[in-house]
Amino acid sequence: MTIKNLIRTALESATNRMGYDILLGKRPEKSLAYVDRNQWEPYVNGDPRFALYRESMEITDMLASNTTVRELRYHALQQLISTVLANDVPGDFAECGCWKGLSAYITCKLIREYSSGPRQFHIFDSFEGGLSEKTSEDRGEHTISRERENEEKEYFSSTMEQLKRALSEFDFYTLNKGWIPERFPEYQDNRFAFVNVDVDLYEPTRDSFDFFFPRLSPGGIIYCDDYNAAFFPGAKKAIDECVERHRADVAMVFEIPLNAVFVVKGASLPAPD
Ligand SMILES: C[S@@+](CC[C@H](N)C(=O)[O-])C[C@H]1O[C@@H](n2cnc3c(N)ncnc32)[C@H](O)[C@@H]1O
Repeated sequence: MTIKNLIRTALESATNRMGYDILLGKRPEKSLAYVDRNQWEPYVNGDPRFALYRESMEITDMLASNTTVRELRYHALQQLISTVLANDVPGDFAECGCWKGLSAYITCKLIREYSSGPRQFHIFDSFEGGLSEKTSEDRGEHTISRERENEEKEYFSSTMEQLKRALSEFDFYTLNKGWIPERFPEYQDNRFAFVNVDVDLYEPTRDSFDFFFPRLSPGGIIYCDDYNAAFFPGAKKAIDECVERHRADVAMVFEIPLNAVFVVKGASLPAPD
């Protein structure tokens, strides 16, 4: 390990121990997000999902933006993917919004390790300057200036080349460049087992859910990051509206504390006698 990596690891570990809220400038005892890492250390060290998260953070060069909250969210994501694969839910995998490939790499690894048969994984992203334009649904009580909005948009940009590098050891994925939902019609006859919707804003979240949910196999899952995230109120609004629209086929909606939700598609029940 180089000295630079050693220092970086020590800093990350110290930050994690203190809790994410230190980064937010809050005192741990006053913050909701404080996580006592010491109490959970044996679990954290023994669980391979944390190792896979770290591996993916390294591959995508994101270690500097590690937080305990993010770590826990990707742990939940891994459990969901593994469950769908263990249950052999039929269909492809999809991801709307891949950025530098953190969740895409994790998804590929789990598919390769746990899928009982071949699976296709379709990734959709603008690959063009990050997030799309905000609409009124995306502007909540945490309003930011247009300048900050542009910075945010740019922050989430990545290129297809970056993704190809991050996923170079896999051959079962497709990269679909374009603004959601431009490329969806190419997949209208596909069926899906798991879909990760991570596009932050109202319109692309709504369009992704409305396209994929009807094509989800029973027992399949749509996972959405950013649910309840104060800076992206449009994601929660879109998911709540979509769940209402598709209510008859929804078996379960589960909020993952701190920024995510998943929706399970119900099995079709036989009509009563
Ligand atoms: C938060 S990042 C995704 C993070 C990624 N899932 C991960 O876990 O590392 C959001 C991504 O959504 C993409 N995106 C946002 N709005 C989009 C739209 N309307 N069409 C296509 N891509 C979009 C951005 O380019 C960005 O890569």
